[in-house]
Amino acid sequence: MDKWDCRNLRLDGKAVFIAGAGGLGSTIARGVSEAGAKVLLADLDLAAAEKVARTIKKKKGPCRACKIDILNPLQITQATQLCRQSFGGMDVAINCTGINIRKPSLNMTGEDWDRVLDVNLKGAFFFAQCAARTFIRQRRRGKIIALASVLSFFGMENRAAYVASKTGLVGLTKALAVEWAPYHINVNAVAPTFISTSINRETLAGEFKERLIDRTPFRRLGKAQDVVGAVIFLASDASNFITGHTIPVDGGWLSA
Ligand SMILES: NC(=O)c1ccc[n+]([C@@H]2O[C@H](COP(=O)([O-])OP(=O)(O)OC[C@H]3O[C@@H](n4cnc5c(N)ncnc54)[C@H](O)[C@@H]3O)[C@@H](O)[C@H]2O)c1
Repeated sequence: MDKWDCRNLRLDGKAVFIAGAGGLGSTIARGVSEAGAKVLLADLDLAAAEKVARTIKKKKGPCRACKIDILNPLQITQATQLCRQSFGGMDVAINCTGINIRKPSLNMTGEDWDRVLDVNLKGAFFFAQCAARTFIRQRRRGKIIALASVLSFFGMENRAAYVASKTGLVGLTKALAVEWAPYHINVNAVAPTFISTSINRETLAGEFKERLIDRTPFRRLGKAQDVVGAVIFLASDASNFITGHTIPVDGGWLSA
């Protein structure tokens, strides 16, 4: 970019592949659509992705939905192909899938550990690999965005596998950013604080919620909408010289 233009913050004409149509993925999908993007939304839960796609299409935003398992690289590749066929290419890939199994570390099984690390870290790697291969094949710039967490930066009881996966994601983001910069691929992540979605609705009740609010300088929980701006920024041309970083969206939590 030779000259600053506010339109650099828009996503007009860009094709965005979003994996994960849950609380954050659905809000991000609607947000990038409003910023001008064409959206392919994929989830293990096809009905959830289709429901969000319908709300986007009602507002005249180009959007398609499909089913993927983030643990299946072939399905991810097929989704990138669908994105290219539907929208003439793919410019941005955002991974909003994720799971958590909360239990005391003394009781965690190998199966629990593998499930969380597989979806949150291995899934994130192969999602990024499929996206990068697509960008390289297209011979054009691409952006990869992962969903890390404030738990990428500090520990919390009963969440060892989740904390390990999200901390790993920060390192993975750096490693891929360095490796793929020669292809003009930006790899970044956003790290939201606790936001009430299906991944943590149960734990965000009662005393735990009060503790979180008390610990947050802005004295409130985060909302899914709080995360959208950082994602649009990382998806847009405004961030072309930023790679390898994880941006916290935390109401000041990590600074307190
Ligand atoms: N909500 C929060 O407080 C919070 C905070 C920080 C980070 N995050 C991260 O943001 C991301 C999105 O979380 P969310 O709050 O939207 O959670 P969510 O539970 O609402 O959505 C997660 C989505 O991932 C999908 N999914 C799970 N396993 C999958 C698989 N194998 N293949 C394809 N899709 C799969 C689910 O169907 C669901 O739609 C996750 O990575 C999460 O760890 C969430």
